[in-house]
Amino acid sequence: MFRSLFIRLMVTYFIIILITLVILGLLLSTFFMDYTFNMKAQELIREGKALNPYIEMYSMGMLTQEMLYNYFTTIDRFLNTTVWVSDGLGYIWLAYSASREDQEKWEEQKLTEEEFIQVLKGNIITKTGQFGGRFSTPVLTVGVPLRIRNRIRGAIFLHSPVQGIKSTLNDIYKNIWWAAFISAGLSVLFLYWTSRRISKPLIQMNEISREFAQGNFNRRVKVMTKDETGQLAVNFNAMADSLEKLEEMRRSFVANVSHELRSPLTSIMGYIQGVLDNTIKADERDKYLRISLSEAQRLSKLIDELLDLSQIESGQFSLNMVVFDVNEQIRRSLISQEERINQKNIDVEVNFEDEYCWVEADMDRIQQVILNLLDNAIKYNRENGKLIIKTWKHRDKAYIKIQDKGVGIPKEDIVHIWERFYQVDKSRSNKNTGRGLGLSIVKKIIEQHEQNIWVNSRLGEGTAFIFSLKSAKKPEKNR
Ligand SMILES: Nc1ncnc2c1ncn2[C@@H]1O[C@H](COP(=O)(O)OP(=O)(O)O)[C@@H](O)[C@H]1O
Ligand SMILES: [Mg+2]
Repeated sequence: MFRSLFIRLMVTYFIIILITLVILGLLLSTFFMDYTFNMKAQELIREGKALNPYIEMYSMGMLTQEMLYNYFTTIDRFLNTTVWVSDGLGYIWLAYSASREDQEKWEEQKLTEEEFIQVLKGNIITKTGQFGGRFSTPVLTVGVPLRIRNRIRGAIFLHSPVQGIKSTLNDIYKNIWWAAFISAGLSVLFLYWTSRRISKPLIQMNEISREFAQGNFNRRVKVMTKDETGQLAVNFNAMADSLEKLEEMRRSFVANVSHELRSPLTSIMGYIQGVLDNTIKADERDKYLRISLSEAQRLSKLIDELLDLSQIESGQFSLNMVVFDVNEQIRRSLISQEERINQKNIDVEVNFEDEYCWVEADMDRIQQVILNLLDNAIKYNRENGKLIIKTWKHRDKAYIKIQDKGVGIPKEDIVHIWERFYQVDKSRSNKNTGRGLGLSIVKKIIEQHEQNIWVNSRLGEGTAFIFSLKSAKKPEKNR
């Protein structure tokens, strides 16, 4: 039924407000009715008590009936009241009414005992109704005891038509319902405004997310409030930012990959072409074929790295956590790089805090990390340079530090080195292996282990990479 949030909000709020107003109106009306009847009754009681001394004087012959009625008239100027005075047995011996005929019909009537007995006991009674059918329209009746020489000798009853009270009440009711009506009207305006404010960003987000689905990430939601909807809009925009960035990254990644693949391929094709059409002389063929081979090997390595990266990023492969000695792993990695280390005549200094450094991690992936960092430390080292490797433990972590005294990284590039395809000096590293993917793979692997990696580098002085791993106890022999 309520297909749009806006209408649903409007209708719900409005119903709630309406119910509240109606209940409030009813409560107020009842309150005012009770209040008015009460006031009226109090007034009648006061009037009844005020009449008592005159009736007393009249009963003692100090006042004529004419004079008494005059008093009644002055007192009753506004109240339009019928007055009965009954004796102790319930006979009405004195009646007063605005109209004379009415007055006479009450005299000598006898009240039933239950009608006056309470008053004779000294109580004041109040009731509404037709007083045993004696009045044709409902009246408000009060009864006060009649005291003559301080003794109760009868009762004074005062009846005032309810109709008069009702007309005052109707005025009050009218005001109450007008107020309710106006507040309902005002709240509709306010509701419209709030509902719009709540639903508008949602409608907008809905629209924009549809555009996202079509690959268009440039629109943003206007943030209008600071509440949850506003926060949602802020987060939505943040999401759009990162989606846009991701899309941008994807595009540049594809462009980069194509470029990185194309340039070695182009040179391979050029060399082979040269060999085939004899532009390359016979005695140089071997040389160019070897260059082609090494280019092809680099291509193959690049593809391996790309596959690694996408595997890690997609989170397809969970970590195969085992306990192993990272010192041993470092030793083996160093041996595998021995040739290159010797070529550059690099002095290797290994400084293990302990003979073993047991950690719990994915052994193959950590191998990849160490090899990548070693590769960089050798590649970006000087001839006759230095390579320092340290491992130590602190609390529940093991730390591995791979440091070189090589070229270092410029300050402004440090934040970027983890990005894919980022190389500080392309021309410099092009001669070597690698296409700027090594460190992004390293970072991803360490992140997957929920560990940290830090870099410390000074241009011209060298670089140190330190990463942490989860420390482990030495495994049992039979495992
Ligand atoms: N030990 C290091 N010394 C100096 N520069 C480094 C070192 N390690 C990494 N870098 C810089 O960070 C960049 C990114 O490293 P990496 O992702 O391994 O790419 P690659 O090794 O293919 O150049 C490198 O191009 C290099 O400029
Ligand atoms: Mg590298």
